[in-house]
Amino acid sequence: MSYAITLIPGDGIGPEITEQTVRVLEATGINFTWEEELAGVAAVEATGTPLPDATVTSIRRTRLALKGPLTTPVGTGFRSVNVGLRKEFELYANVRPARTIVPGGRFENVDIVLVRENLEGLYIGVEHFVAVGNDPRAVGESLAIVTRAGCERIVRYAFEYAVRHGRRKVTIVHKANILKMVSGLFLEVGRAVAKEFEGRVSANDMIVDNTAMQLVMRPEQFDVMVTTNMFGDILSDEVSGLVGGLGLAPGANIGTGAAIFEAVHGSAPDIAGKGVANPSAQMLAAAMMLDHIGELDAARRLRAAIEDVIVRANLRTRDLGGSATTAEFGAAVAQRVA
Ligand code: NAI
Ligand code: MG
Repeated sequence: MSYAITLIPGDGIGPEITEQTVRVLEATGINFTWEEELAGVAAVEATGTPLPDATVTSIRRTRLALKGPLTTPVGTGFRSVNVGLRKEFELYANVRPARTIVPGGRFENVDIVLVRENLEGLYIGVEHFVAVGNDPRAVGESLAIVTRAGCERIVRYAFEYAVRHGRRKVTIVHKANILKMVSGLFLEVGRAVAKEFEGRVSANDMIVDNTAMQLVMRPEQFDVMVTTNMFGDILSDEVSGLVGGLGLAPGANIGTGAAIFEAVHGSAPDIAGKGVANPSAQMLAAAMMLDHIGELDAARRLRAAIEDVIVRANLRTRDLGGSATTAEFGAAVAQRVA
């Protein structure tokens, strides 16, 4: 048995962290067939387009992609590849786990998985200005669209994720007190789905502004969280911040047509090519991919190996206060994962 995976090394530090991530995945003993494809600036340079058909075709075939960060050039007109992929494969769920790995931070016991709806809400981009008198841009208007089907799909994903991963609670985050329809619908559907899971996963709901405060006061009360697009955008970065920021934050984009796994951080042009980038976030994204394909034991071994290298072996890249290179870190994880 071999899993076919579309591999997109990406831009900047992407190829360096991807190389080490492939190395530790191979060390798990699972067989992979890598379909290496281009996207982003690397793709523009080679093919003239940021998201070549060959890349889309490969993902359509494998339905799984491990993607490095892509540089979005400022000022030139090409559309965001991440948005292109999101639309192409209907990537409706953005999943961002955050767990304390490095001790001694502000919070010791954070273990949160935030599930964000990724296609609806205020981010659909239906906006316009309304002219008043001489001012053509006197009023800005933006439309938020939330569908019953979209709410049901994302909340169900969160509860099913909780069951699959042995999680005890899902918190439905909303603003239904003010946004009685767009957020009210989400809460109504959320509570109905929660009922179906009664006895297996407990549930509660919380208003988003209170949630933001509770996250920094008592983050250990949260387990799985599910929310709409914009609230999820904001809260997912807050959640990453609780456990020390970008270097250890993975993400998954789950869709009807494919699932794409990546680090939350960008292409880090300031350190690209120097061999000092931290590959942990990309490796943790790979662990999420292993979970997704049902290789739970390999996922657990990979996470444990990363944690062992950082915490017990104290082998760390520069961003975590150490002096290990990307390749040294990769070698140490690969050795422990086997
Ligand atoms: P960034 O995340 O690339 O870098 C921010 C800071 O964190 C830099 O100082 C960088 O050196 C450091 N850093 C990031 N990842 C690191 C790692 N693995 N190890 C050690 N240090 C690390 O964010 P920035 O600079 O805002 O964006 C750079 C480019 O990346 C932009 O073109 C942006 O559009 C793109 N980007 C792409 C993303 C994606 O493809 N998913 C996500 C975020 C940004
Ligand atoms: Mg964001």
